[in-house]
Amino acid sequence: MKLLYRGKAKTVYELDKNHVIIEFRDDISAFDGKKKDVIAGKGEINARISSILFEELNRNGIPTHYIKFEEPNKIIAKRLEMIPLEVICRNIATGSLIRRFPFKDKTVLKKPIVEFCLKDDRYHDPMINEDIAYNLGISNEDEMKKMKEIILRVNDILKKFLYDKGIILVDFKLEFGKDKNNKLYVADEITPDTCRFWDRETREVMDKDRYRKDMGNVIEYYREVLRRISA
Ligand code: TMP
Ligand code: ASP
Repeated sequence: MKLLYRGKAKTVYELDKNHVIIEFRDDISAFDGKKKDVIAGKGEINARISSILFEELNRNGIPTHYIKFEEPNKIIAKRLEMIPLEVICRNIATGSLIRRFPFKDKTVLKKPIVEFCLKDDRYHDPMINEDIAYNLGISNEDEMKKMKEIILRVNDILKKFLYDKGIILVDFKLEFGKDKNNKLYVADEITPDTCRFWDRETREVMDKDRYRKDMGNVIEYYREVLRRISA
């Protein structure tokens, strides 16, 4: 299979002209790749979690790249031109939001916050606006408006789906790609690496913050997320 792209935690291979195979590896990293480890079994768990969440989005009419799961740690997806933006949606203030703005940790936001960041570790994924994105040749106002509408719909769908499984969706990141007709699709992954998940009853952290903050039991919590959403 032809290798198309190797990222920090996933590898993308060409399947055919219009499809790719995305392999979820056991690599984990944080802080622009400065902290790195291998966590056995993470790739398979994340491929399964991403598949379940993309299936839920597809069922609800959101255009996504996801086609099917491939045992044990891969998915087949539409081949798209990726937009180098990280689109973040937040329901509760925490993480980088409280480092940059005077929000109190763990406060429920009056309405979700959507942020666009440039996907570029060299610049530490800085927040970006329509004019900067346009001048960099990355996106434009109309497309960013559409991405904002889609991520807010995704937020409503996943927030409800996860809450019913005992998980609070604190915040998450999406990446988008375009097909030859410039139609937008939610792409990449939706996993505990790219979302903040808290236990609905205890507020325990069930996502990559366990790794970032050396809280331990990373794989055990990822496995628990998978168990709950599989039920
Ligand atoms: P932040 O609070 O660190 O900005 O993170 C917001 C959300 O984005 C959180 O759910 C984790 C996710 N995220 C990524 O998926 N990739 C990244 O590189 C970063 C920094 C955050
Ligand atoms: N995924 C990013 C990295 O590996 C950062 C993060 O999620 O904290 O650097």
